[in-house]
Amino acid sequence: MERMNWDEKYQKGEVFWDKGQPAPPLKEYLERHPLRGRALVPGCGRGHEVALAVTHGLDANGLDIAPTGIAEARARYPHLAERFVIGDLFDPPEAMRGAFDVVIEHTCMSALPPSLRTEYRRGIELTLKPGGLLIGVWYINPDLDPGQEGPPYPFSVSDLTALFTNGYVILEDYVPEVAFAGREGRERLRVLRRVG
Ligand SMILES: C[S@@+](CC[C@H](N)C(=O)[O-])C[C@H]1O[C@@H](n2cnc3c(N)ncnc32)[C@H](O)[C@@H]1O
Repeated sequence: MERMNWDEKYQKGEVFWDKGQPAPPLKEYLERHPLRGRALVPGCGRGHEVALAVTHGLDANGLDIAPTGIAEARARYPHLAERFVIGDLFDPPEAMRGAFDVVIEHTCMSALPPSLRTEYRRGIELTLKPGGLLIGVWYINPDLDPGQEGPPYPFSVSDLTALFTNGYVILEDYVPEVAFAGREGRERLRVLRRVG
């Protein structure tokens, strides 16, 4: 399957997913759970979740395959510019391999067609240390027009459970009460610990 040209989306300004601020459920989660260590935001786009993680004491990096997205993240958060890295989660830079205590998911997995989900899990495992946390605001049920397939691609809670069935334990799992407008009730906050 041909992979989507994400950079073109940024070049054309067709960045419908960007809300100009970090995801409210993640903000709420980090306010309640003080964490330390290195964190990765795969598919970080314009970088709002990286900025949030740094504000909450994490030593965070963002990784994105789209050079224009990374340039826009650096322009939006110039004090964090060096934290934003161009690269592919499926073949992460050497320096990111096995380097992170926390991976933060926000609309990276839902951007990928179902055929790439095992690659996504592999990408998480190439970067997240055993024992580390995968904290996700999983966009389970996006609001699609009739006939629209994605991205964002819907997936069920059981799809999510099946994808991370071996080697992970669920630490928290709930439908967040806070959300961007239009995403209320469509997301799942699930935190997994990598045990394998
Ligand atoms: C829907 S956007 C979400 C961006 C950001 N998380 C946000 O919420 O604003 C998906 C992002 O994933 C990036 N992406 C897609 N495939 C990727 C891959 N294999 N490795 C790294 N980034 C990827 C895209 O370039 C895009 O910025």
